[in-house]
Amino acid sequence: MLPAVTVRLLLILCPVLLLSGCLSKALPPVTVQLPTRTIDYQREVKPLLDKRCTVCHSRERIDQAQKTPEEWAATVDRMIGNGAQLSPEERQAVIDYLASR
Ligand code: HEC
Repeated sequence: MLPAVTVRLLLILCPVLLLSGCLSKALPPVTVQLPTRTIDYQREVKPLLDKRCTVCHSRERIDQAQKTPEEWAATVDRMIGNGAQLSPEERQAVIDYLASR
């Protein structure tokens, strides 16, 4: 036979454990978006920033700005609207680089 104290403790713990089990199951899954590849700044991004992004203003204008990924996406899309020439892949590489520095 188990000591009375242990039995009482188990009687208290069982519902608690059951309940916490239910609660933790109710949590929604967390999705994390990891970058799918590494961007080579010298090869992929620098030529774009130096050639395509400096048609209308200086490189300093870009280097001075600090933005979140969402803000950079909005800015780069505005620049494309202004006339910046970027393919979808180039656009993404520029946004990823600018948001990560
Ligand atoms: C066709 C001309 C043109 C090109 C090409 C261009 N921009 Fe701009 N950019 C502008 C103009 C005009 C402004 C000022 C008005 C504005 O902010 O929209 C500006 C302003 C900016 C600013 C400062 C305003 C802010 O929101 O922080 C940043 C940063 C910037 N550009 C980044 C870029 C990047 C990065 C590229 C290359 C993908 C680029 N620009 C290419 C015309 C251009």
